[in-house]
Amino acid sequence: MNNWLKLVLLILFMVLLMAFFISIQFLREQNEITVFVTGDLQGYLIPCGCRTSPAGGLSRRLPVMEKIKREHPKSKIVAVELPNVFTDRNPSKDFINRKVGEFLYENNYLVALGDRDLSFGEKLKEYFKGEYFIAGVKGFNEEKIIEVGGYKVFPFGQKAKVHLLFLSELSSDPDLPVKIFSEKVQKHKEDAFVVFGNISPQTVEKLLKENVRILGVFASWGQIVTSLPQKAKESWVVFLGDKGRRFSTFDIGYYDGKWTTWAETGYLERDFPFDKTEEEKIEKILRVVEEKNENILSEIAKKFEGKSDYMGSLHCKTCHKMEFEKWEKTNHFSATKRLEIDHQERNPECLVCHSTGFDRGGYPDNHTDFTGVGCEVCHGPGKNHPPSKMKVEKGVDSCLACHTKRDSPYFNDGYLMLIDHSAKKKPKGYTIVGVAN
Ligand code: HEC
Ligand code: HEC
Ligand code: HEC
Ligand code: HEC
Repeated sequence: MNNWLKLVLLILFMVLLMAFFISIQFLREQNEITVFVTGDLQGYLIPCGCRTSPAGGLSRRLPVMEKIKREHPKSKIVAVELPNVFTDRNPSKDFINRKVGEFLYENNYLVALGDRDLSFGEKLKEYFKGEYFIAGVKGFNEEKIIEVGGYKVFPFGQKAKVHLLFLSELSSDPDLPVKIFSEKVQKHKEDAFVVFGNISPQTVEKLLKENVRILGVFASWGQIVTSLPQKAKESWVVFLGDKGRRFSTFDIGYYDGKWTTWAETGYLERDFPFDKTEEEKIEKILRVVEEKNENILSEIAKKFEGKSDYMGSLHCKTCHKMEFEKWEKTNHFSATKRLEIDHQERNPECLVCHSTGFDRGGYPDNHTDFTGVGCEVCHGPGKNHPPSKMKVEKGVDSCLACHTKRDSPYFNDGYLMLIDHSAKKKPKGYTIVGVAN
């Protein structure tokens, strides 16, 4: 054969060989997953800036997800929303929750449900049509299995399974997460696991001791937060307990029989840029909610017009200037204003605790200012005083109507000292213990 022809054939052969290997790369199955974890949405459509309520908001999840997609072009993005997802505090809760559910569904979220979500019962199905999880409760899925690695058409190329396992620590059965996990591991000895849920640090420790196949644990537990992901041996641990402000990403790769992982955390900032059409959609929802709130408030105001026993804190100031000036410096004074950072200042279900005499002749009123937790919250309506006496209660029993476990987890007798405004001398022996801030 002519040498030239030989050379041409050789080159052709090389080109074919290269083409074959390149095409194999295209036939490679998805080897990388990026899990995007958020939690504690509580039905908030837009972010707020408060300490005890969620700050992330629905509207800031999408831009983060878009960014992740740009930064991980090869990854399959798996979005996970941890409890609590839906709001139980708004006259428009059904409407809001349905919209929240639609968003999660459209964006293929896997949703983990918590106690508060479960309290909606059958309504949940109306709110969210996608895949949802809760461990240890009959009738729910508890894991999603994702296969990674290998090749599409060839028999060779290793494949592996990663289980996204949703666990919850129930007060009636604190060992449940470890129990369920052990069963899973027994059944799937070769597979890897990522654990999500409401689990305590002690349980996380037990889980990690149990098995090295855990790639990561993403949990919420009260106020516990890990600012940077922690690595315990081969597993990443992130506590996302900052009331919806935080997100975490978790990159999982599987190449040639080996797992590689990398976790990060970030904040769902209030000033993130946001997709215009999504923003408009949310604004529209908010307008409907606001309108409904305004209707309810104006009905209440009309109901009591001209026949209320409440006078307003400014009225008390005329004779109790000193008490007023002390009260003015407490958080009770600004309790209604405070709702503004949450965009909830006209939400009747917050105003019950964040205003004076709500729906009893106080807030809302078109003529008198009943904002704040005013004098008459604690001393009763002041229409006939003086001469009739006002209530002065001892102890904290009356505070508990608002200072509930949910809204004021650190409340104790020491709080009385913090609102003290009476002119009378106090007996010694008041102690302030463990007051937040
Ligand atoms: C059952 C009564 C109650 C209801 C209902 C309630 N709150 Fe509160 N809220 C409180 C109490 C009590 C505190 C003070 C907690 C503390 O400091 O111990 C508080 C504190 C706050 C604070 C300030 C502390 C912080 O976390 O920054 C914000 C903001 C707030 N609530 C928002 C809301 C919103 C929004 C709603 C409605 C969706 C709401 N609250 C409904 C009782 C209530
Ligand atoms: C009508 C509901 C209501 C009642 C009743 C009530 N509070 Fe409050 N309290 C609130 C709200 C709402 C806040 C949060 C205000 C804010 O942060 O803007 C608050 C905040 C406080 C704070 C400030 C906490 C902080 O984090 O700075 C103290 C202290 C306090 N209350 C003590 C009491 C005591 C003591 C009583 C009973 C004598 C009482 N409260 C009764 C609703 C109430
Ligand atoms: C969160 C509840 C609360 C609010 C709001 C509140 N008070 Fe009081 N007030 C109390 C309590 C409790 C005492 C008793 C304090 C003590 O003896 O330690 C008291 C004491 C007083 C006393 C002294 C009564 C006595 O016989 O010792 C006066 C007067 C008074 N308050 C007026 C006011 C006025 C005026 C305002 C509004 C500017 C106001 N209070 C707001 C709970 C409240
Ligand atoms: C016209 C003046 C005046 C106004 C307005 C007024 N008070 Fe008084 N208040 C008094 C006098 C006088 C006393 C008795 C003073 C004393 O002996 O300590 C008193 C006593 C009190 C006491 C102690 C318990 C009692 O009844 O003796 C409380 C609590 C109180 N006022 C709360 C209020 C609140 C809350 C308001 C607003 C709704 C208010 N006051 C408005 C004049 C007034």
